Amino acid sequence: MQTDLLKMVEQGGCSAKISPKQLEEILSFLPLPHDPNILVDIDTHDDAGVYRVNDDLALVFTTDFFPPVCSDPYEFGQIAAANSISDVYAMGGSPVLALNIMMFPASTLPMEAYAEILRGGFDKATEAGTRIIGGHTIDDTPPKYGLAVVGYVHPQKVITNAGAKPGDLLILTKPVGTGVIMAAQRMGMADEEDITEAKRLMKLLNKSGAEVMKKFNVKGATDITGFGLAGHCLKMAKASKVTITLNLKSVPLIGKTYSLIDDGCIPGASFRNLDYAEKDTTFAQDLDPSLKMAAFDAQTSGGLLICIKEDKAQELLAKLISEGLTTASIIGKVIVKEEKHLNLSN
Ligand code: CO
Ligand code: CO
Ligand code: CO
Repeated sequence: MQTDLLKMVEQGGCSAKISPKQLEEILSFLPLPHDPNILVDIDTHDDAGVYRVNDDLALVFTTDFFPPVCSDPYEFGQIAAANSISDVYAMGGSPVLALNIMMFPASTLPMEAYAEILRGGFDKATEAGTRIIGGHTIDDTPPKYGLAVVGYVHPQKVITNAGAKPGDLLILTKPVGTGVIMAAQRMGMADEEDITEAKRLMKLLNKSGAEVMKKFNVKGATDITGFGLAGHCLKMAKASKVTITLNLKSVPLIGKTYSLIDDGCIPGASFRNLDYAEKDTTFAQDLDPSLKMAAFDAQTSGGLLICIKEDKAQELLAKLISEGLTTASIIGKVIVKEEKHLNLSN
């Protein structure tokens, strides 16, 4: 009998993240270590911490893990690894080393499934040039998997959430909708081709997108994961002390994402993300409600959101498309801080 991991979870992938609102509340009580070599910590809501080793080298350090987002153990391993490594790419780093983090129900799932998850992770890490040199497993239900990853970055070339400048345009490298498509799969509402495309995108490393943005000396970027496009834009706008305007009609969506949302297929994580962002967001009066919920859809292993000076944006976009990121699009812009950090319009 084939193992179907998706049957074991209510919320898979980055949808299983704790609500951003609760997270911010809890983190606000946590003391931060002070050290001049800490270049980036959780203060800017960045994807990873960055620690300066010397004038030429800093370490990017990050971890992510989550319950299954698809049925097949090997594909789950690939997606979880691509998602974990993505935070290094988002900060301009090159991933070097990783450790497996695994929770596995040894009494209810066959050991082959365990091996397949790890093999998927290993293959994806190898594709990223990352060596997995250890890990840790505990017995737990449902299974959860991810990596802790260390990358290298030049201390002067760290790309952060705090690097968005008024006048920059925003480019998104992957279409949005993995949360909706995976929820629709569970409800038997999703097309097979949309499921296949969502899985292809989740497995796709942000490596080529990151290489392009490094060539253009980008200063501000993030990857779009559990807080959704709008949630991550809000975090970036707060960290950069700017306002971000998104034109949601320009945001590419996977397959039938729009009509699925229209039909009421909206995962719970979307409402958590909306609840977090609502007070800092101006919603256009005529905002399309389905586009709005797409903007809050929790992504697993989503694309990079890149800030680029207006006069370089078309060139960067063309380069991304030539690297195979064919749906990369300009989806908004950075402006001087207004009363609220985020503007959503059609
Ligand atoms: Co991230
Ligand atoms: Co992360
Ligand atoms: Co151990």
